[in-house]
This record gives sequence, C-alpha cells and structure tokens, in this order.
Amino acid sequence: MTEADSARAPRLRRYRIGLQEIVRGDCLRVLKRMQEHSVDVVVTSPPYNIGLSYRSYPDRRAEEDYLDWMVAIGTQLRRVLKPDGSFFLNISGSSAQPWLPFELAVRLRALFVLQNHISWVKSISVGVDSFGHFKPMNSQRYLHRGHEHVFHFTCDGTVQLDRLGAGVPYKDKSNIARRGHSQDRRCRGDAWFIPYQTVRGRAEKFDHPGTFPVALPEQCILLHGREQAHVLDPFMGTGTTLLAAQNLGCTGVGIDIDADYVAVARARLRDAMAGRSE
Ligand SMILES: C[S@@+](CC[C@H](N)C(=O)[O-])C[C@H]1O[C@@H](n2cnc3c(N)ncnc32)[C@H](O)[C@@H]1O
Repeated sequence: MTEADSARAPRLRRYRIGLQEIVRGDCLRVLKRMQEHSVDVVVTSPPYNIGLSYRSYPDRRAEEDYLDWMVAIGTQLRRVLKPDGSFFLNISGSSAQPWLPFELAVRLRALFVLQNHISWVKSISVGVDSFGHFKPMNSQRYLHRGHEHVFHFTCDGTVQLDRLGAGVPYKDKSNIARRGHSQDRRCRGDAWFIPYQTVRGRAEKFDHPGTFPVALPEQCILLHGREQAHVLDPFMGTGTTLLAAQNLGCTGVGIDIDADYVAVARARLRDAMAGRSE
C-alpha cells in the first residue's frame, strides 16, 4: 500500500475478545500508530509472494517491491519491539522462487540479528515410518516440501530464552543426572515437528490457503519465555497467533487487511473462550 492508498484506506475496525485485540486494516498503517517498545513477541507469517489465492490480497508482486514492502514492515516491527523482544518470521519459498526466504532474511539483516533459525517440519519420514501430512508433488526435479523456515530475529542477538520452558523430556532418563540437570527437560533444538491436523476439506482450514497450527506460535511464545507477554501478529489471517496467546494467558494484537479472515479470527477466539474446540 502506498502513502496515497493509505490516505484513501477505509477506517480501521478494532475488536476486543478476551485478552486479544483484532484490527482490520493495513498492517503498515496500524504499526505506525503503535507505541514503540511495546511488544514482547512478534509471531507472523506474511504472504510469501508465491501466488497463493487469498481472498483479497494479490500474492504476486515484483520481487523488489515485495522485499521493499517487507523491509518497511520490518522497520516498524523493530520500532515496536522491546529491546529484549523476539520476532519469529515464518516463511517458505516455492520451487519457482527458492531464494525468496533467504533474500528476505538478508534484507532484514540491516534491522535485526538472526539469533536462531528454526526448521518447522510439517512431515517427515524416519526409517520406513512417516509422520505428518504428505502433500504429493508431481515433479521429477523437486522434492516434496516438508518444512518451512522460522527465522528468530532479535535486536542484538543477546535475548535470553526459556529453552526448558519450550523443551522436551529426556528420552533416556539416565541423562538427567549425567548431564547435571535438576529436572526432566532438555532443549527442543531447532527442528520442530508440528504437523497439521488432518482435515477433510478447505472449509475446515477456514477457507484460508496459508495457516499455521496453533502449536507453532505457542512454541515461539514459550521459547521467548516472558510471563504475560504482549504478542503481535501483523499478518493475523485466521487468528492462530492470538489463539496461542490467549491459551498462554498473554495479551495480543492481530492485524489483517481482509474482512472475512478477521471474521474467522473473531469466531475462533470466541469459540475457544466458550470452550468449543476446533
Ligand atoms: C500467510 S497468511 C497468515 C495466516 C495466519 N498465520 C493463520 O494461521 O491464519 C498472510 C495474511 O496476511 C494478510 N495480509 C496481506 N496483506 C496485508 C496487509 N497489508 N496488512 C495486513 N494483513 C495483510 C492476508 O489477508 C493473509 O491473511
């Protein structure tokens, strides 16, 4: 959105549900109005610029435009993030645009330090066993895409994390004493296997082409490890990050430009608060 478009843009709509605030509007415009150093954790997945069919956003810009736009958003995220905040950016390329996530990460280097690079594994085969949803790819050139990136950016690379809060129990319990740990918990590492729930149709995915599972933002918020953190998702989609924040007792702000996705996010949050599971 250009400055001129922004001036013509419709009035922002704001909704409060539980600990969460939802804003319908252009995220750059909303971010510019937010207070600096007010956010502990950003978890977001922007449009990947690979031609997905969102309801209103055309996911296909010239690559330079897209990167400039994302840098403008990154600049605002740096401003609203607390100095010890964490920015988790989930993105993937496509076979036609394999460099895009890396180009973006390099552009964001002017603003952030890449403190961790997490692989979100959506499906994997271990030996002859397979886990997660396998989406076949009809190609002799490319492998089935089983993972996406989660870049963990911070302002200076020194943010203390709660690795055990986001950790896992030891498989071999004798390692607890051997490694001098006081509890049955170790760091999860930087490969996170988080499969999608199996669904029967697109409607069960809220008619949205690019959601992530609630466990992904939950894991990011737990890893950042601040109690009652203030969480932000500038590309909220169906509100998954806000559901994670709500589940963990955190306040959150989610922004999306699309009225239909905002309606889905509001319904999901209302259902979660009424104890209706998805
Ligand atoms: C990859 S999706 C996010 C999905 C989300 N993580 C979820 O689980 O539902 C990206 C979202 O960005 C939204 N979007 C695109 N341009 C935007 C803008 N300028 N401001 C705010 N949201 C925007 C799209 O409508 C889309 O819902």
